[in-house]
Amino acid sequence: MKIVITRNLPGTAEETIAKNSHDVWVYNGDGAIPRDLLLEKVKDADAIITLLTDKVDAELLDKAENLKIVANYAVGFDNIDVEECLKRGVVCTNTPDVLTQATADLTWALLMACARRVVEGHKMTEEGGYKGWSPDLLIGQDVWGSTLGIFGAGRIGRAVAERARGFNMKILYTDEFPWEEGERTLNAEKVNFETLLKESDFLSLHAPLLPSTEKLLNLEAFRKMKKTSILINAARGGLIDEPDLYRAIIEGEILGAGLDVYDPEPPEKNNPLLSLDQVVLAPHTGSASVNSRNGMADLAAQNVINVLSGIDPITPIKG
Ligand code: DGY
Repeated sequence: MKIVITRNLPGTAEETIAKNSHDVWVYNGDGAIPRDLLLEKVKDADAIITLLTDKVDAELLDKAENLKIVANYAVGFDNIDVEECLKRGVVCTNTPDVLTQATADLTWALLMACARRVVEGHKMTEEGGYKGWSPDLLIGQDVWGSTLGIFGAGRIGRAVAERARGFNMKILYTDEFPWEEGERTLNAEKVNFETLLKESDFLSLHAPLLPSTEKLLNLEAFRKMKKTSILINAARGGLIDEPDLYRAIIEGEILGAGLDVYDPEPPEKNNPLLSLDQVVLAPHTGSASVNSRNGMADLAAQNVINVLSGIDPITPIKG
């Protein structure tokens, strides 16, 4: 069977699939596969391993008559029209679990960097601006004993909250479902969105991008937050209204933000958020650790192999 992989992946996914007697085509170009080429290549594909930058929609599915599985190399799947796939009997899978801890680590890296102004300090020192110890140099926010708000207590949100134990933090969370273990072991408290906004010193986003979550973090929301609060987003850029975030920071509604994701992505050069000292930026590297990225590739490959052999995939996306 023919498998299309839309980008060179780390690890041994390609060989594993080929070992199963499948014919693998991998896009080896720089950057995302051009849409025209993807539409051409899916024509006789039985499976595709997609990146979060590849849109899987009705147009693509119309061309891919043999397609049996779309294995997304990501836990998020807002690039896939899952309903349209399922309607046509095409299985969709993602890569949960294998990237949870790495993404939680990066979330914390952003949180700490924002709280203690690490990037500002780095730049100042590098540029020779550090002229000697001073009582008021780069005063930041306390992490120890502060309140961490988790918007979306799924796997990654929970892993971020668990790390807060080491910082004596109060944990608030918002989710459709209660997180009983977190309530029992971390004293985490389920609150509504309004309370989460009002009481968090650090608000970390871990919800999927859905019509109901799109641009939920907007000026109205920022105005409810503490003026000393910091927003962290390692989920999806679309959760935040970026022009509103810029305005909220320069008007002093919130203190700053740590961003791993943008809308659009990559951010445009003239995005004013890029010029703010109070904003720490990462290039969507939440899952970028060796184990995570290899694990994602192996899981996507195994999902493909399973489906093409008539076995249930390990991590199906349910409609
Ligand atoms: C995901 O998996 O959804 C991340 O954004 C990239 O690893």
